[in-house]
Amino acid sequence: ERNTLAFGAEDGAIDYYVIAGPAPKDVVRAYAWLTGTAPLPPRWALGFQQSRYSYGTAAEVRRIAAGLRGHRIPADAIYLDIGYQDRNRPFTVDRSAFPDLPGLVAELGAQGLHLVLITDLHIAHAPGQGYAPYDSGEAADAFVKNPDGSEFVGKVWPGPSVFPDFSRSAVRDWWGRQYAYFARIGVAGFWNDMNEPSVFDGPASTLPLDLVHRIDEPGFAPRQASHAEIHNVYGLLNSRATYEGLLKLRPDERPFVLTRASYAGGQRWAATWTGDNSSSWDQLNLATSMLVNLGLSGFAYAGDDIGGFAGAQPSPELLTRWFEVGAFQPIFRDHADNAKPAQEPWVGPARDLEIRRRYVEARYRLLPYLYALADEASRSGLPIMRPVFLEFPRAVAASARRNLGVRDQFMLGPDLLVAPAPTGESPAPYTVQLPGPGWTDYWSDARVSGDRVVETPTLERLPVYVRPGAIIPRQPLVQSTSQTPSGPLEIAVYPGPDCAGTLYDDDGISLAYRRGDYLRQRLRCTAAPGALTLDFAAREGRHRPWWHSIEVVVHGWDGAAPQATLDGRPVDARLDAATHRLTLVLPDPGGPARLVIGPGH
Ligand code: GLC
Repeated sequence: ERNTLAFGAEDGAIDYYVIAGPAPKDVVRAYAWLTGTAPLPPRWALGFQQSRYSYGTAAEVRRIAAGLRGHRIPADAIYLDIGYQDRNRPFTVDRSAFPDLPGLVAELGAQGLHLVLITDLHIAHAPGQGYAPYDSGEAADAFVKNPDGSEFVGKVWPGPSVFPDFSRSAVRDWWGRQYAYFARIGVAGFWNDMNEPSVFDGPASTLPLDLVHRIDEPGFAPRQASHAEIHNVYGLLNSRATYEGLLKLRPDERPFVLTRASYAGGQRWAATWTGDNSSSWDQLNLATSMLVNLGLSGFAYAGDDIGGFAGAQPSPELLTRWFEVGAFQPIFRDHADNAKPAQEPWVGPARDLEIRRRYVEARYRLLPYLYALADEASRSGLPIMRPVFLEFPRAVAASARRNLGVRDQFMLGPDLLVAPAPTGESPAPYTVQLPGPGWTDYWSDARVSGDRVVETPTLERLPVYVRPGAIIPRQPLVQSTSQTPSGPLEIAVYPGPDCAGTLYDDDGISLAYRRGDYLRQRLRCTAAPGALTLDFAAREGRHRPWWHSIEVVVHGWDGAAPQATLDGRPVDARLDAATHRLTLVLPDPGGPARLVIGPGH
């Protein structure tokens, strides 16, 4: 039947939630109210992350760290995939390849690099071998059972494996305790993979649907449940167990968990990525719609394997383009399969390295903007990466291109529109449809006339446009979020309607922001020809930020050099006539303040 959308289930009724909006943002906020929001992540998780299946020795990890720092690629994390483990057994370390893991963690930490370890859920079926996760799990009766009451054993990376029954709170607590050693030595984040769960020799590559779980936790009547009932929430419960376990072990540190499987509401415990993509132009393009949809579905933190996981080695050009787009995605992680040649940012011609570095740097300069978006996501559920229609529903509805922003273009927050070529490999020009007039090229400051631009693809350019009315906080370049930026906070103002922006800062890692140690400050501007007023609202929270001064840059300033005052006191204004940028350096206002820029006398 046309115009009919049908839902159903094989086994019993479904609860339906209809969210009427009316605006798309109302729908997203109401969905967040229902399912929860993604909490503020540690700031380092917004940095660039380097992964591979697998960096197999401490020496190799050191080489990767040296590569990042030596090539001046800003970066915050290195991942260890299953290869760091003894015989692929979760919660073990191959001591011949990693003789001193605590030492390695400290060494990386000194370089501003955080270590993330994979910790898959399948526990090796190893009775009587002194493998503690199996022995303690067995003692706690933690594993999923066959209908006849015996333990189910299926094959995954370690060979024969058993599967924790995360539907019991006692099992989730037991799981959380497995992290004690890694948490103590300062491993920063954890990766829950294969948790659909993936079972190589299982029916449909997962657990048999008739396996028996036991729901047992506060608020629920204890009962048995088949795997058919639990299957869709299994990955969510796995990542919840990880997150809650880490919080118990490090009660004042924001956990970072990356999960492959989850469910509605799973954003409360983990970030996600799009799984095993492959190195093709198609899959690079597909990432945009997948990540935009994940954002609308509550997952503010999602990424895709930069360069592609499987398949042939990406061409230098494909990898470069992937870095360009990845720099504007919420989770920015380069990852590749073990069957492939190296795929780090420096692989390939020097020109490609230079371009990739430039985009990673652009992301790091935008960290204050990203962090303010993270704060907003944690409170409202609005995603970081957004379809254009979320911000501009009317303009998109009125446009001939109704899919604007769904398939190719996307917004990073309310202010930046990113417009990769819809077919990345094609040199053919393409049209970028903007939601209205007055937008500015983020890189060149060129003002777009009208509401569309024709882009002719060049390797070094990913088109990014700025909303008229944007106020975007930026920072001096750092090589890691562990480094305190030196110099002023930059506030880039693009005069226009609804001119507003937000500053957000805190210590980046602890939960002190929940106890008032944060800084949130709204900014508004109003503009008239040759004049502009920038209002700093009162600060919320009591955090003292890293910056001591603020450089306001007004973009697209037409006319003569103006005079300016901050709360009545004169401020120097420098006009660059060639770029039409007006720059003013202010002491950090620390509270409500008004910057008035007007014609000279
Ligand atoms: C799965 C994951 C992939 C990982 C591999 C080995 O395929 O999706 O990211 O590298 O397992 O752990």
